Amino acid sequence: MRGTVKSKRPVPELHRLDRRVPSVHRHTLAGSAVSQRVLARRIAELGREMAADYAGTEVVIVALLNGSVLFVADLVRQWTGPMKLDFIGVSSYRGGLSSGRLVHTKDLRLDVRGREVLVVDDILDTGRTLEAVRRRLGALGARRVRICVLLDKPAGRISPVQADYVGFRIPDWFVVGYGLDFEEHWRNLPFIGVLHPELESRTGRQRPKAKPAPVLS
Ligand code: IMP
Ligand code: MG
Repeated sequence: MRGTVKSKRPVPELHRLDRRVPSVHRHTLAGSAVSQRVLARRIAELGREMAADYAGTEVVIVALLNGSVLFVADLVRQWTGPMKLDFIGVSSYRGGLSSGRLVHTKDLRLDVRGREVLVVDDILDTGRTLEAVRRRLGALGARRVRICVLLDKPAGRISPVQADYVGFRIPDWFVVGYGLDFEEHWRNLPFIGVLHPELESRTGRQRPKAKPAPVLS
């Protein structure tokens, strides 16, 4: 795999919430997994790897709504070559609950026939979403489809999808912030937080073997 081997990827651990984090977040979060500073450093590294890999090629970046918005906004600012940007809306989560059924909320507008496509998403969990998106882009005639995710949770995988670029590989925690939501809240946090285990049951995840995150807030 490309972006995952060249640079040393820091392994997230659960950290106590920074003193500057408002008290309103302290009942929701068990701790912080990736700070704002570490996010920025890793995204700059990913940007450099992609610039080298895609040198001289125009790429159509297809970002998945809504979770990837903050990530893709920072990622494209690192882009040095020619690129186009479009969004598709696919959702398997309703409220905080995963229905498992994919709902399309916005279609692609750019033509990807014969194009080099990079799909950008917030997190690769079961893999169902990205598997469906990859198939759809293939059906639309994309020449090649690569996948970039900020977070990878291999423990959740059901579909055999691998990402070509991964920001951080994380344990089976339910995370929020930097675009990721719980019941549509917390997307605006500038860091990646881990949801408090007491709220886990409301996410609708069925992970019998998952160990709840320790609480450090
Ligand atoms: P997948 O189809 O199971 O791989 O799920 C992908 C989508 O589920 C992501 O784009 C997220 O929107 C959502 N998701 C999965 N895990 C989490 C999480 O830990 N926090 C917030 N959203 C998540
Ligand atoms: Mg999403």
